Formats: sequence, C-alpha cells, structure tokens
Amino acid sequence: MRWLAPTLTAAAALAGTATCAVLAGDSISPRQTTPIPSSCPGVTATSKYKLEAATGWKYTLLATGLSKPRSLLFDTEGHLLVLEAGKGLTAHTLGANGCISSSKTVIQMNQLNHGLALSPDGKTVYVSAAPTAWAYDYDAKAMTATNQRVVVKGMNPGGHNSRTLAMPPNNPNLLIVSLGSAGNIDHPSVKKETGRAIVKVFDLSKAPTGGWDYNTQGWYLGYGLRNEIALVFDGNNEVWGVENSGDDLTRKVGTSSTDIHINNPAEELNYLGDPSKSNEQWYGYPTCWTVGDPSVIKDKQFKIGDQIVIAPNSTFDDASCAANSMPPRLTFQAHSAPIDGKFDKGFANMYVSLHGSWNRQPATGYKVVEIPFTRLNNSRYDPVAARDNVKGYSEILSTQGEASCSQNTCLRPTGIVWHPDSSRMYVGSDGSVGEIYVLYKG
Ligand SMILES: *[C@@H]1O[C@H](CO)[C@@H](O)[C@H](O)[C@H]1NC(C)=O
Ligand SMILES: *[C@@H]1O[C@H](CO)[C@@H](O)[C@H](O)[C@H]1NC(C)=O
Repeated sequence: MRWLAPTLTAAAALAGTATCAVLAGDSISPRQTTPIPSSCPGVTATSKYKLEAATGWKYTLLATGLSKPRSLLFDTEGHLLVLEAGKGLTAHTLGANGCISSSKTVIQMNQLNHGLALSPDGKTVYVSAAPTAWAYDYDAKAMTATNQRVVVKGMNPGGHNSRTLAMPPNNPNLLIVSLGSAGNIDHPSVKKETGRAIVKVFDLSKAPTGGWDYNTQGWYLGYGLRNEIALVFDGNNEVWGVENSGDDLTRKVGTSSTDIHINNPAEELNYLGDPSKSNEQWYGYPTCWTVGDPSVIKDKQFKIGDQIVIAPNSTFDDASCAANSMPPRLTFQAHSAPIDGKFDKGFANMYVSLHGSWNRQPATGYKVVEIPFTRLNNSRYDPVAARDNVKGYSEILSTQGEASCSQNTCLRPTGIVWHPDSSRMYVGSDGSVGEIYVLYKG
C-alpha cells in the first residue's frame, strides 16, 4: 500500500507547493498529505466517558479497539506506528480524509509492552519487553521489520515492567533505556548498581554480539529515578524525564505519624541532560520524596518541589536531601501518573499525558497537559514556571467528572506523537478500550 497515491488531491488542494512538487516528479512529503479529520467514518466510541478540550483545542477519535496502545511514532512514509501492549507493533496508513485507511501488524510479539523507538533515518526500529530490548531493520514502504537482534539484555524483573526506549534525534548510536523500581519503596535501588530506578544509555555502534548487559554496561543518565516512564528530547537533544512517584506515604517524626499521601509525593519533571555524557546525579529515590502539598506536613515548613525524607533520623534528614539529591525542575499533581511527553515544533511547550491515579480519592489525571517552556540565555530549555509553582501546566484534554474516574471508566492517555506536519498530536489511551485520539488547535 502506497502512502502517496490516494492523497494527491488533498495535498494539491492544501498547498500550491505540493502541486509543484508533484509536477516536478518529487515524492510528496508526508507533511503535505492528510487533513485533520473532524470525525472518522465507522469509528465510534464504545467507551462511556466524555472528554473536554480546553478553549482553542479540539479532538477526534481516530481509532478504537486496539490492544493497549502505549507508544506512538511516525515512520518516514507517514505511517502511524503503534506499540500495542500484549500484541506487538502495528502500522496504520492515513487515508485522504486523515482517518486510518488500513492497518498492518509489523511485529507480532505479545511480550512487547511499552518501549518503541526509531532511528533518525527511520531504518531501524527498537522495541522492548521487561527483560530485553530488540532492534529490527525497518522498511517503511513495505511496513516490515526483519533481522531481529537483541540490543540490551538482562533487565531486572520488578514491579515496574515498562522499558521506555528513546534515541536522540541527532545521534543514531545512542539508545536510552529507562528501568523503574521493583516496588513502591525499593530500598536496595538506592545503589545504582542494582540496575533499577535508573536511566541508562548504550552506544549501539559498539554493542557486543548478543547485546549490552543492562546492569553492568552502558552509562547512567541519572539514578534514584523511581519510574521515569517518559524520556523527552528538547531542542538541544537534551533529555527530560517524567517520573511516577510513590504511593501511600506517611510522614513519621518521633512518635507522630501523618498520612500525607493525597497530594504527596508530587510526580516529577526531571532534567536529565545530554545523553552522550554520563550523569551520575542522584535524584532522591527511594529516600528523598518531592513535596506536592506542604500544608499537611506540620512539623516543618517546606515549599512545593522541596525533597524530604518520610522519617527523619540522626543520620539522614530533610537537609540531607537538600544537600545530596537533585530535585525535579517542576512537579505534577501527586498520583497523576505521567506516561509520555513531546515538545511542539518550536519547543515552546511540552505536552504530557497523565495516565490517571489509583492511589487517590478524589481521582486525578486522565488528561493531557501543556507545559510552557522557554529558552534561557545559556541556550538551555527550561519550564517557564518556577519549581514551586503548581500551575506550571494547564489541561488541554481531560475527562469530565475526573474526580470519580477509575482506570476502566476514563481516558487513560499514553503515548503522544506529533504528525510530521506539526498540525496535530496523536494520543493513545489504554483504558477499558484501546483508542487513539487526534488532538489539535481549532
Ligand atoms: C535513617 O534514615 C535513612 C534514610 O531514610 C535510612 O536509610 C536509615 O536506615 C535510617 N537510619 C536509621 C538508624 O534508622
Ligand atoms: C542571563 O542569565 C543570567 C543568569 O540567570 C542572568 O543573571 C542575566 O541577567 C541574564 N541575561 C540576560 C541578558 O537575560
């Protein structure tokens, strides 16, 4: 199935430049080809929840009935690649109306559960299961993946089994792999050599036969990271991580114990930096937790974004966190479960999917948010909001009645990808029904 054939008319109607390109015999870039659909024939929601887009935003249900879509990407021919957990990798062709005109299973492997990355040239695809990450040669025209080989092996089994994969847009040799903790509070992971609660980088150009060993090889891109599910590149190809933090926390001081879990610890947006360099900075887990709501911590005054221990003692207390741990750059509402993030074209905003809580009443998350970014005068990208600002982001797509949401009754946003023409985002949802939405300004 060719990408170009059915879309010439639409492309020509959209832009004069597309017509010129056709006459000149050039191939049409996917960025000129499909309109944003306002509805897709035959695609009707079977889920019962109602969504709400912020002013200036619209959404369209693109697909339903998928097997837990977790990660989304576009290939070089403009096919939407979807990592469907429990099934494998699928490729979807967008037709002249912007809806899916055909779908194909590229890799059938039910142990694939989250990770998906594509080399900058689009010719190698990377996927992961809990213990292993694989590479395949990818043919975007044929939508086939062949020549499977292991690139990273020996990843520890644990409570968190997703292995997010990311490849810097400017470096086809580096594969970044995130591995979360074995449980809520994984004490041994305070040592990065456990191979958990870390992000690591592997140089695939030097990979030994049979792949790199996760625990003993590669270099760190931070440790003490409880579950860094999203790895997001900014305009300098530096990495930001979004972290799912802990559940059921209690602050114990002396004999007094306070349940602080409703709004603590905050979920985190962490600056991890340049992946070509080793980052051996400790980000605090499993000892230092980020304050989301200081008002319930009565024994001391903290600001949002400060890091504290849950039980200070004479050898390690809150001041030890301040001295030793790298706090997040920005926080998210506790338990909102950030899953993926992508910047827009100009790196003015990062968009993050908040998968939704289980450990909080009222429920929270089940939405997509926008975080305004700016460029500092040292050329680094940075959120506009200060660390202690709870309004560092705004909702752009949310579930109505979020407070009573459960994991089977609401939008559960997962992977986010921009269309190559930057006009719209595609957002997966892996609740009771696997869905993909198109989200756009309008
Ligand atoms: C003191 O607190 C630290 C950090 O929470 C912990 O690792 C350590 O075991 C504690 N020490 C004692 C004696 O309880
Ligand atoms: C550049 O950043 C530094 C440090 O934040 C600040 O002191 C300085 O005023 C900034 N300069 C300009 C021109 O914004």
